[in-house]
Amino acid sequence: MKIGVVTSGGDCPGMNAFILELAKLCSKTDCDLIGYIGGYKGVEENNFIDLNFNSISGMSLGKRGGSILFTGRYENLKDDKKMIYLKQNLNKSGVDWLVVLGGDGSLRAAKKLSDLGIKVVGVPATIDNDVKGTDYTLGFDTAINKTLEVINDIEDTATAMPGKIYIVETLGGDSGNIAKAAFDQGAADIAMIPEMPISDEELVNMVKEKFSNGNKYIIITICEGLKRTMHYSELLQQALNRKVHVTIIGHKQRGGSPTAYDRYMAKQFAKQAFDLIKKMIMGKWFAIHWVKLGIAIYNYFQ
Ligand code: F6P
Repeated sequence: MKIGVVTSGGDCPGMNAFILELAKLCSKTDCDLIGYIGGYKGVEENNFIDLNFNSISGMSLGKRGGSILFTGRYENLKDDKKMIYLKQNLNKSGVDWLVVLGGDGSLRAAKKLSDLGIKVVGVPATIDNDVKGTDYTLGFDTAINKTLEVINDIEDTATAMPGKIYIVETLGGDSGNIAKAAFDQGAADIAMIPEMPISDEELVNMVKEKFSNGNKYIIITICEGLKRTMHYSELLQQALNRKVHVTIIGHKQRGGSPTAYDRYMAKQFAKQAFDLIKKMIMGKWFAIHWVKLGIAIYNYFQ
């Protein structure tokens, strides 16, 4: 049996740990694992490497962020002819199963390939945690921890020089999950996210109220997708006559070693993906699955 793996879209911590675990599982059976380079582009160009466990096991992959396979945003996802071309390439390469790691767009493309007859396992992997049908996407925990690291450092200086407002812009695209997580964990006083819009007036009043309730400084996380970070900074500066400092975390949030939780989840996802493939072969099922703890079957037919 031959499995092809693709890391697609924005990379996330845990992708390498997943690949390592999958390679380990394949090495215990007569299963070949290949990795396409640069996401779906690698499938289009037939550009792949062998992911033999013996040859990748000494590369400290478990702790490495990014993806050794590189990733890419494939511009032809909506081009049906291109998708058929990808299917033909996969067939020619003798790939029995395609494992796709990625977010929303990447998994939608995986579904298209499944509709075309390719056997696909989809693994939710994006720091944004915004894939329908799963509670968790690989890399989210690491991204939250990165946010907390930044806020923790800001708090030191905020404590030493009270009275100011700190705005921390988080990644996440249009999903406010990372910004909200910082609020849920008590690290941010306010989270501004697309899912729960608040007016300028409401924001000003909330900040005023928090200061009058005894807050010595205010930390606000803002999801990048709002595209209002500098607007809020100027607004608060003028309305409250206080200094406002902006920190944009940017792609620091997407890199680095996966946390213990993401390494654990990478291993679980790889086990689930491999088990699904084995079960599908036994049951001759033909499907696309979102993999998560406990296996959520998204769509299948016999
Ligand atoms: O993959 C998701 C994500 O990291 C978002 O959080 C972010 O908005 C986006 O990717 C950035 O994408 P790129 O690195 O392609 O600019």
